[in-house]
Amino acid sequence: MSTDGVDTSRRRFLTASTSVVGAVGVVGVAVPFLASWQPSARAKAAGAPVEADISKLEEGGMATFEWRKQPVWVVRRTARNMKDLDTLKDQLVDPESKVPQQPEYAQNPYRSREEHPEIIVMVGICTHLGCSPTPRMEVAPADLGPDWKGGFFCPCHGSKFDLAGRVYKHVPAPTNLVVPPYKYLSDTLILIGDDTVEEGAA
Ligand code: FES
Repeated sequence: MSTDGVDTSRRRFLTASTSVVGAVGVVGVAVPFLASWQPSARAKAAGAPVEADISKLEEGGMATFEWRKQPVWVVRRTARNMKDLDTLKDQLVDPESKVPQQPEYAQNPYRSREEHPEIIVMVGICTHLGCSPTPRMEVAPADLGPDWKGGFFCPCHGSKFDLAGRVYKHVPAPTNLVVPPYKYLSDTLILIGDDTVEEGAA
């Protein structure tokens, strides 16, 4: 068994022992790593889509839902609101929503899905430093001036957004409010946080 004065059978044994120890070591590390990598049920629930029942949402009304710990606003705009949105272009930073702050289907001046253009769904968090803007639906209030057509005013540093969540020029917020992924489960039920198309659906 001995060549060149080395006991090869002992060397083989030592090599095998080392491999086994190594493998045990890897398993010992891998199990806790995998366990902590899997998202917990709680984390999954926190990111889960949320159903928004808008059956009682009147024209000009707004409802707030919570999704991923953020307020999500749903507003049913009036015909007058929709007309007013068309007149604001020159006062806005990104009137056509070129910056991807919304899914593709909401990349239009109203920032809504075509099934219900009058309904806007948006995350109620200011794109400056994350305050939640205040809804200001009234037209031409004294503090916001005669040109105000309704929208959202951020009390933290004065950013202003219209009723499509589009940011006005000359305010600190750089971009429009975020439109989350969403889809209609029916005319009165929205699923916020999920816009996957069912197989076979048009
Ligand atoms: S956080 Fe809204 S303007 Fe600064």
